[in-house]
Amino acid sequence: MKEEIKRTADVDEVYLFERVTSTNDIAKKLTGKNHSALILAKEQTKGKGRFGKEWYSPEGGLWFSLLFFPQDRKELSCLTLLSTLATRRAIEELTHLSSHIRWPNDVIFNNKKVAGILSETFESAIIIGIGVNVNQNSFPPSLPNASSLMIETGKSLDIKALLIEILRKFREYYKTFERDGFDALRGEAKRYSSLLSKFVTVDIGALKLTGTVIDIDDQGRLVFRPESGRLLTLSSGEVKEVK
Ligand code: BTN
Repeated sequence: MKEEIKRTADVDEVYLFERVTSTNDIAKKLTGKNHSALILAKEQTKGKGRFGKEWYSPEGGLWFSLLFFPQDRKELSCLTLLSTLATRRAIEELTHLSSHIRWPNDVIFNNKKVAGILSETFESAIIIGIGVNVNQNSFPPSLPNASSLMIETGKSLDIKALLIEILRKFREYYKTFERDGFDALRGEAKRYSSLLSKFVTVDIGALKLTGTVIDIDDQGRLVFRPESGRLLTLSSGEVKEVK
């Protein structure tokens, strides 16, 4: 199993754990070794979501981080969106069901979140943390908008097969991005986006704006028209549809 993961992810080392605090945190501790790595755990006790939120990570999900050292500077926001697209696509290959992305880092099925990406930089390293709710059959009441692939499809899924497929798609999309820029992935980002033309709220730090999503641009940024004021292009932020 380790060899196949190593080959597919094209990393120097693979670390498999039963239980860790957070695979992103383990990745940070490994940056000093200067080798690329994949860190996979069956369970996380302190899984991290975006904006300091907790990420519920019991056994039954897919929790892993990719650690690598790009030659030249890469826009983290592009890598996040690219990872979301790769995860969405891999889920489609395995389940034969189409899902959507909620810019920039959620994969959603029937409006419920089934996967999330947390990408971070640490010194010269990039860490892409990917979490997919795979075989959980319930969620705590505090997470009413979360779901799993098993709940949505009625079938349990092979977690390892999903990991391999995400890694394949990630490498494919990363190569396309390196060669042709984000513009080459823009069509796919728009086709599967749940937010285009929607009326939304956007949290950007202390600022909360309401307005309409207009586009995803050639650098993967969200083009947004606030109710008052000029058009904005955002490279990060939390976006919620107003229903
Ligand atoms: C989000 O949607 O807020 C991001 C969720 C990211 C979860 C993954 S699970 C593997 C990796 N380790 C973590 O602690 N977080 C990411």
